[in-house]
Amino acid sequence: VGIVVREARASDVDGCIDVLAALPDYFTPDTHDLVRVSLRTQRAWVAVEAGVVVGFVLVEGRYSGTAEITYAAVRPERRGQGIGSALVDEVFRALAEAGVAIVEVKTLDASAGYEPYVATRAFWERCGFRQIDCIDPHPGWQPGNPAGVYVAALAPTRRG
Ligand SMILES: CC(C)(COP(=O)(O)OP(=O)(O)OC[C@H]1O[C@@H](n2cnc3c(N)ncnc32)[C@H](O)[C@@H]1OP(=O)(O)O)[C@@H](O)C(=O)NCCC(=O)NCCS
Repeated sequence: VGIVVREARASDVDGCIDVLAALPDYFTPDTHDLVRVSLRTQRAWVAVEAGVVVGFVLVEGRYSGTAEITYAAVRPERRGQGIGSALVDEVFRALAEAGVAIVEVKTLDASAGYEPYVATRAFWERCGFRQIDCIDPHPGWQPGNPAGVYVAALAPTRRG
């Protein structure tokens, strides 16, 4: 329905930050500058509708054959309409093409008891992620924010 998913360009940065700013329950203001900087150097994908960024996914690849989704966000009024899934599908396709076998995502663990993230964890599981760990406290995260660590396999990592 008029939504294009493509790799992000420099001109998409402000649109991505607008999406974060519209989701204050999920992204504190300090994340805006972090994402702005990361968008210059990391790969990202955007969902664009009528010239407006309605969602994005930021990916960091630090090691060979693996990558981490560090941010994912869809405008609040467009959540639950398949945009996040379309973004993750395209990210998985592009990463698999680049030889990535394992994708990681960290999110707020269920033990935090914070309701907004119930849907987020359901989303990652629906995308094929499985939880492998909980890190609490997580270095660099605010106290009281246990990190649920999830991975998805795009390809086998062993023969046979
Ligand atoms: C998480 C997020 C990126 C998902 O994008 P989205 O476009 O809303 O997700 P989709 O519409 O593609 O949902 C896909 C699946 O996720 C699950 N899901 C999504 N929203 C859900 C909800 N409110 N409750 C339960 N499951 C939900 C469903 O299984 C859904 O599939 P279905 O519609 O076939 O049942 C988006 O909702 C968002 O920006 N959330 C706030 C920020 C955030 O949590 N970011 C991630 C931080 S780690």
